[in-house]
Amino acid sequence: MRSPILDYLDEVVADTAHIDSGVLADYIPELAAADPGRAAVALCTVGGTVYASGETHHEFSIQSMSKPFAYALAIEDNGLDHVVECVGVEPSGEAFNELSLDPDTGKPRNPMINAGAIATHALIRPDGALPVDRFLGYLSRMAERDIALDEAVAESELATSSRNLGLAYLLHASGNLASEPRQTVEGYVRQCAASVTVSDLALMASTLANGGIQPNTGERLLSRKGCRQVLSVMASCGMYDAAGNWLTNVGIPAKSGVSGGIIGVLPGQVGVAVFSPRLDEHGNSARGIAMMDRLSADLELHLM
Ligand code: DON
Repeated sequence: MRSPILDYLDEVVADTAHIDSGVLADYIPELAAADPGRAAVALCTVGGTVYASGETHHEFSIQSMSKPFAYALAIEDNGLDHVVECVGVEPSGEAFNELSLDPDTGKPRNPMINAGAIATHALIRPDGALPVDRFLGYLSRMAERDIALDEAVAESELATSSRNLGLAYLLHASGNLASEPRQTVEGYVRQCAASVTVSDLALMASTLANGGIQPNTGERLLSRKGCRQVLSVMASCGMYDAAGNWLTNVGIPAKSGVSGGIIGVLPGQVGVAVFSPRLDEHGNSARGIAMMDRLSADLELHLM
């Protein structure tokens, strides 16, 4: 029998279909070619059951939604204390790609903005593979399938990476980058090009909702303390300079990406993912936010 929750998710997709505000990300040429009308939503409970509606098989690049998972892997590899020494945890109040670092230390303010994500990528241990390949393996264990790269997106962003290269060289100049700038940016850009569906993202988010344990395989992918850290930073910095609005309205730790996805995590309960490519002025999916607003209100997801 078809679950009533699927009918409900169909309704969420249909009821937000009129939202056509926002624009496609155009600083990565491949993203500017996305079909703006696409939309999808998925939930995964901490019991590991996935419910999805809309264009559930459509793959898109994970972009900044990779940042909490790269932070998680860096914590697993180095321990929390070392990672916190290298990358701050305060909201920046600036755009995600701002060329700014803490003026006193030269350190990135948090791991959700590009500066912090580049420094975080450099903390992933190669262990015989490239850091980005270990990262893809980590995502694959969360999503229960092999997650691959969208090479076209990676190439397209690599060709237009001056800003991220600028950030990496600034970090390097102040002694706050653990590896060579150009190589690190290449790895980071490839990390952002991991190709996922909303169902993959919901499974990944549910691993965080489940305290770091993948709900179906039972594999611990992140310590409980590491998981608390990742979710705390998502809550304060995940939606960039819209974080306050998000926390008051939707009320759960979340992370957006310029491809148009947003993941949300209700600890102990559910991981949520939405996708629709048009972005608002903060770089967050406009229809995605409307879908999350609706889910939060109807399913009483707000933490407070
Ligand atoms: O580094 C960048 O600019 C992109 N690869 C990711 C940015 C992003 O997704 C920002 N999120 N809304």
